[in-house]
Amino acid sequence: MDTPPPKACVKKYPLAVKNKWVFVWMGDVEKADLAMLPDNFSCDHPDWVNVPGYMHYDTPYLLIADNLLDFSHLSYVHANTLGGSVAIALAKPLVEVIDSNGQRGVKVSRFIPDVPAPPYYKRFQDFDSNLDRWFIYDFLFPSTLLMHSGGRPVGDAADDNSRAVINHSCQTLTPETDSSTHYFFQQSHRASVQDPSIRHNMFNTLIEAFNEDRDTITAQFKNLTENAEHEMLPLHFDSALIRFRKMLADAVQVEKNSAPHTIVKFHK
Ligand SMILES: [Fe+2]
Repeated sequence: MDTPPPKACVKKYPLAVKNKWVFVWMGDVEKADLAMLPDNFSCDHPDWVNVPGYMHYDTPYLLIADNLLDFSHLSYVHANTLGGSVAIALAKPLVEVIDSNGQRGVKVSRFIPDVPAPPYYKRFQDFDSNLDRWFIYDFLFPSTLLMHSGGRPVGDAADDNSRAVINHSCQTLTPETDSSTHYFFQQSHRASVQDPSIRHNMFNTLIEAFNEDRDTITAQFKNLTENAEHEMLPLHFDSALIRFRKMLADAVQVEKNSAPHTIVKFHK
């Protein structure tokens, strides 16, 4: 067929590629803003390496966001994979609002002193002492986590990373339907780590851990669906996710209030 029929049109969306990830703007074309794109630098940087991953969830994306905004769940869900411990659950995170240069969301900083090295850290190197661990992440609109994490032997100075494990990760959620979600992720480590098998070992550990997350969140969604008369009860662990949900709900409301009346543009 030399010429497509005039009615064979599809809707056209703005698209951008950043750090190997493809972003599609589904909203009002005039409001597409490149400044909102997350800086997932470690996905596309010579100093970092990773194996990218994907999972599918049969749950709403906000339940997954809740999970990512409360790392106390490491203690209950990931004790045998990512190294959860009671100390992680008890460590009170600092939660700050992000609202500048087009980026909106929350920053969550959690420091846990003097805890055992998680099993997958031992693939990087042997430790003869406990570690001081940290998780510092931005969780940005609409649902992207960008995290610096790591651990250094207890007693090493805060600016001495010569014996530390240092990772950077990105996890981002794309709603598929009201009750299903695409989950993209990568966890990067420094390219200076000599053993190439570590990259795949780390990926396999992540898959194991993320299956633990998915089992938990899927069960939570089933419980919420079957017991819809019960509302979720926020606990003090939930300060980051409560703040994020409120910010997101406010932004959605503002967008609805300013949305044009049923203007749909089609392009050949
Ligand atoms: Fe998790």
